[in-house]
Amino acid sequence: MSAPSSPGVPRATAGGLTPFGDPSVSALMVEPAGRPPWLDELADLVVTGRLVIPRTTLTAAAPGDFTGWARSALAEAPPAVARPLLDDMAGIVGRVRQGAGGGPVLVRVFTEAPTRRCGFHVDTVPPNSPTVGAVRVYNGPTTEYVTSGDVLGMAEFYAYLSRRERLSRQAAGVCRPDAYTNADARTKAGGGGGADRDTGTDSAGAAALRELLAMDENPSFLRPGARVHRVPDDTTVYFRHIDVTRHWSPHPVHDTWIHRSPMRGGPRLVLNVSPTRAVAASPGRR
Ligand SMILES: [Fe+2]
Repeated sequence: MSAPSSPGVPRATAGGLTPFGDPSVSALMVEPAGRPPWLDELADLVVTGRLVIPRTTLTAAAPGDFTGWARSALAEAPPAVARPLLDDMAGIVGRVRQGAGGGPVLVRVFTEAPTRRCGFHVDTVPPNSPTVGAVRVYNGPTTEYVTSGDVLGMAEFYAYLSRRERLSRQAAGVCRPDAYTNADARTKAGGGGGADRDTGTDSAGAAALRELLAMDENPSFLRPGARVHRVPDDTTVYFRHIDVTRHWSPHPVHDTWIHRSPMRGGPRLVLNVSPTRAVAASPGRR
């Protein structure tokens, strides 16, 4: 159901965040002029486990806060990768900070394989914060998204999100940590995620998992014939977050960007950046 493309989303190779002056723009995709060779070596380091960054969340209140952490985190990486990677990540952090008027930003970075735990969602910021943040996936499967015009409405989306979050909790409560990943293999093999000693699930958890898989395959908040798109490789997406006080409200669809992580694949290096007025991590973020 997904395809690599960026319809409905403006693209650029450089510049600021001025496209967000148009309230109908929910995301901006920025791609490099060419693919720098260090990205291949970086991908190899991440996939083979020679570069591991545990899930990290930090509030960068000053320009040097992030680079100080990154130098330490990348100290063991080859300089030919560490230097351009640090520059690239710091550039994204700086761009979000600039768009937020120089205020603090929340940075989340990790190397992990994707799972099914989180489906389509929107990212939030604390009350009255600037709303344009960014996500960059440096290797492996990229973020999936839908265009505003393909969404029936936020009431339909939030109903879907609420139901999926409930199912995800039910499935997680009875599944082994790898059950979300194994569910795909079982479904393809005709196993259907049944309850048994092989899967580690009980019947309630298996039923929740089956419904969750069906919801991922056919999101009910989309118009008939709508497509799920995938962010092009090597692309940074700057996108609107929703003020947490408006989360779950029937706001216009283009006020935020509906997206999800891929459901399978190997370890990826992912950077998320969002504005924050608060010192602590904002609620409701994934
Ligand atoms: Fe997200």
